[in-house]
Parts: sequence; structure tokens; C-alpha cells
Amino acid sequence: MPEMPTLTIGAKTARLPIVQGGMAVRISMAPLAAAVGRAGGVGLIAGSGLTPDELTAELRTAREITDGVVGVNIMVAVRRFKELVHAAIAAGADVLVVGAGFSRDVFTWGREAGVPVVPIVGSVRVAKLAERFGAAAVVVEGVEAGGHLGTDRPMLELLPEIVESVDIPVIGAGGVVDGVDIKRTLDAGAAGVQMGSRFAATVESSAPDSFKQLYVDSVESDIVIVKSPVGLPGRAIENPFARRLAAGDFPPIDRCVSCLKECGKDYCIIDRLVRAQGGDVDDGLVFAGSSAARIHDVPTVASLMERLENEWKAVSAREEQS
Ligand SMILES: Cc1cc2nc3c(=O)[nH]c(=O)nc-3n(C[C@H](O)[C@H](O)[C@H](O)COP(=O)(O)O)c2cc1C
Repeated sequence: MPEMPTLTIGAKTARLPIVQGGMAVRISMAPLAAAVGRAGGVGLIAGSGLTPDELTAELRTAREITDGVVGVNIMVAVRRFKELVHAAIAAGADVLVVGAGFSRDVFTWGREAGVPVVPIVGSVRVAKLAERFGAAAVVVEGVEAGGHLGTDRPMLELLPEIVESVDIPVIGAGGVVDGVDIKRTLDAGAAGVQMGSRFAATVESSAPDSFKQLYVDSVESDIVIVKSPVGLPGRAIENPFARRLAAGDFPPIDRCVSCLKECGKDYCIIDRLVRAQGGDVDDGLVFAGSSAARIHDVPTVASLMERLENEWKAVSAREEQS
């Protein structure tokens, strides 16, 4: 039976080439990230929308659960980016994944602390720039992904171009939910995959049951693009709130705490993500990738990781025989 390859980022090696994507606000917290790290993947706590103290506490909790690979994902667009990065480094994050914008400084902070920095990229140009600044790896996120989108191109179209143009590991994200998708992504030259939606619908995810059920019930036509004040389009499940946004009916902002460096102020995205995480999946924003329509259950992380590995092995063995 073929063995799944490992994934090395900087000095850390995960037994499986599976990164659980950071999911804000409060979807990928210590329970999920630690479970993924313990199962042999790379678990990421989403720092965006947390205070530095909250992030520190989450990392400490994760560390009590596992000595597997656990890192942090922070959006460059958040105003407290620098504080959150420093909190993550101080609390012992194994890796820093940064998306929604580009920061030169984070490479310096990571280098000084010996923590690998992995930016999320959507083009060859940005991937090369990231490598030049010292990225340990890059995540190539395609248009299928849940959350904010930096490209309109499918991951499997973009990935080979980036694999060709850089010498660091490339991790494919967007539309990966099973072992067959993982095989296809690794065959296209990726060193690993990053999966968000699939992990949002697991037992250990901090999404409420109503959020996970929307994933399970969704069909392809339910996954839509929404406007985000971050300045990038976002991918989410269609619900009354997404329909409101599509009609240009933006809810007024009750209280602005200037959480983003730049905000279109059409509506408060943090408020809407927090509502969804709190269980209000009608008036909240439910981020999800296009492949949420292929998710039909809410397994534990351990059983999901075992299933992904087995599916990868089965398809690899079949291909070896043919
Ligand atoms: C609910 C949800 C929240 C997300 N939040 C973030 C985030 O805070 N920062 C980030 O860089 N990516 C975020 N993402 C993107 C994921 O980390 C991951 O790259 C993406 O989900 C991959 O596509 P997939 O959903 O098709 O697996 C989010 C995705 C989802 C589904």
C-alpha cells in the first residue's frame, strides 16, 4: 500500500500533508486545531477577530492537548495584525499562515523568532515575491475556497504555474474535501493541501450545530459570492443575510471598533461572522467553499483524517495497478 507523503514547513514535519485552514471568527479554535495536529496534520487557530490575549489562551490550550503541529492564521487586513503575530510567536505557534493582504514585516518577525511564515497567494507574482521575502511555503488558494477570495481562477489551474515558478513547498487550497481531491492536488505538484470547509463541519469545529447543518444540507446552487467590506469578494452559503447583501440592502453598523486597517463600511463583517458563530445562521454570514455541497456528515477529526488517508491510499493503489 502506498504511504501518504509527509509535509515539511521550515523545521516542522507533519505526518500527513493536510493543513486545516484557519477559519475566523472563532470557527477554528484550540479544539479543532489541536485535534488536527494530534491526528498528524497541521492545525491552525484563526487569530482574526480575537484579542491577542484570547489567541495566547487558545494556543496554550492547544499545546496542552497535543505536541503535534499547531499554528495560527491571521488576516493581514486586521488592524491588530502585528500584535496578534507577536502573541502567536510568544505563545509558541509552529507556523504563521497569513492571508487577505501582503505584509513584508511578518517575514522579518518570523525570521527573528525562527517561526516559518506561509502566505496565502493567488498569483505567480505574489508567490515569487513571498519566496523572495523568505516564505517557508505558500498556500495557493483558488476561487473554489470558502471565505475571502484573492483570485477568480480555479486552484488546479493556478497551482502548476506557481509550482513551476518557486522552489518552496506549495500547498493547494480550495475545493478539497476527500482523498481523491488530495491525490489530484498532490499530483499537480503540491506538497500538501489546505482544507477549510471540510473541517468547519467536524465535531471539534467551534461552529454551532446550525452552521454545520447548513453545510450538510447545502447543494451547489446554495454557495454564492458575497460582497465584503474587506475589499475582496467572499464565498458563503446563501441565507437571508446573503440575499440581503445581493439586493444591496446593507445593514447599518451599530458600533465600529475599526477592526480592519481599511474597511468599505458597507456593513460590519465581524458582527455578521460573530452572529453566525453564535448560531444565528439567518442574519449571520456563513462562509463556505463551493465544495460544501459535497459534505454530507459531521465526523470527528480523527475519523475524518483516517478516512482521507484511506481514500488517498485506495485511489493511489488503483492507479499503481493500472
Ligand atoms: C468559515 C470559513 C472561515 C474562513 N476564515 C478564514 C480566515 O480567517 N483567514 C483565512 O486566511 N482564510 C479563511 N478561510 C479560508 C480557509 O482557511 C481555506 O483556505 C479555505 O476554506 C479552503 O477552501 P475550502 O473551503 O474549499 O476547503 C475561511 C474559510 C471558511 C470556510
